[in-house]
Amino acid sequence: MRNFEFQNPTKWIFGKGQIEKIKKEIPKYGLRVLVTYGGGSVKRNGVYDDVMTNLNEIGAEIFELGGIEPNPRVSSARAGIEIIKREKIDFILAIGGGSTIDCTKLMAAGAFYDGDAWDIVIGKHYPTTSLPFGTVLTIPATGSEMNSGSVITNWETNEKYGWGTDHTFPKFSICDPTYTFSLPLNQTIYGIVDMMAHVFELYFHHGTNQPLVDRMGEAVLKTVIETAPKLVKHLDCYDCRETIMYCGTIALNGYLRTGIVGDWSTHNIEHAVSAVHDIPHGAGLAILFPNWMKHVMSENVARFKHYAESVFGIDPTGKTDEEVALLGINATREFWNSIGAPSRLADYHIGEADIDLMVEKAMVNGPFGQFKKLNSEDIRAIYVASL
Ligand code: NZQ
Ligand code: ZN
Repeated sequence: MRNFEFQNPTKWIFGKGQIEKIKKEIPKYGLRVLVTYGGGSVKRNGVYDDVMTNLNEIGAEIFELGGIEPNPRVSSARAGIEIIKREKIDFILAIGGGSTIDCTKLMAAGAFYDGDAWDIVIGKHYPTTSLPFGTVLTIPATGSEMNSGSVITNWETNEKYGWGTDHTFPKFSICDPTYTFSLPLNQTIYGIVDMMAHVFELYFHHGTNQPLVDRMGEAVLKTVIETAPKLVKHLDCYDCRETIMYCGTIALNGYLRTGIVGDWSTHNIEHAVSAVHDIPHGAGLAILFPNWMKHVMSENVARFKHYAESVFGIDPTGKTDEEVALLGINATREFWNSIGAPSRLADYHIGEADIDLMVEKAMVNGPFGQFKKLNSEDIRAIYVASL
């Protein structure tokens, strides 16, 4: 195990009917509240009304910024920062998924910076404080509700990068599984893929003596693999929504990162795809991850063999280590196929002609990855295998 530091200051408020807790939490920070949300799902499913009812009950002065895009754009954050500065906002409440929450993180940090918000994303400016914010989660996927990361797209330059600081953890997150009933099948699937992908990014490492962290990751994966097939057939299954929502947060709130260094190559490779083609993050991961696995498997076959046996129960009898490892990777692909996830870039009309630009975008900071350091030829090979 590597040395580590762990701190997660977000108050996780989980369960049915928890929205009224915002009445207790928000006044700690002030009552001039900017409410942020996406393209309108929160208005159709009643979550917006629940938030407004509770904010009105505490006499909050409410400002709004809707229309935050999936794969949120720096332009939306700039618009939010302008409102925050102009209206002297005390607190931001994000209602939505990773996109609204990530964009809100940039607003919170950008509120104390006079330069352009993009400087924060590219590391030109490192924020040392931020406006307090909370979240009401409506899609389990990114874990953004309980981590400090944020992923922002600059559509003018086709760049999409992650950033984060110690100051960009939400103060609290309301996670009510009933708020995810309205999620359509495709978004439900993308979220499931994304949370599994977060475990993969942390699980495939070369460290030793991580028995508990390994088993915690395997437990999340096995729980998702057990629950997802029921959920995709019964989108109104409360127990399934509850379990998936719980798994999504655990997958990326930092516990599974203790004592190891995550790989994160596939996320980089996917961000380069969605920076150019604006495809859903989880869809891109479903297409790319098994191909990354095959590409890097030879670096540590034992690790992939362990994955195959522990997560998918593959019987190693009479098989070589490579065969077992490959069966585990194939089982991953088959599982995602079985719940309806995409498996080819062609599903999004992305072809060979697009690869050069995506490789260039992925490689902008040079070779990356911990499990195997990937160069542009590796990335190209993964894209080609994903066509
Ligand atoms: O915009 P609205 O109308 O709200 O619709 C959204 C959006 O179209 C819809 N939706 C969300 N909750 C709903 C709902 N529709 C009906 N009922 C509900 N309850 O779902 C669509 C997707 O929402 P989005 O917020 O984009 O999804 P997600 O949570 O998957 O976020 C994706 C973004 O997060 C980044 C991704 O790169 C991508 O930009 N990531 C953030 C991470 C982090 N902060 O830690 C890590 C992740 O790996 C990821 O990179
Ligand atoms: Zn992700």
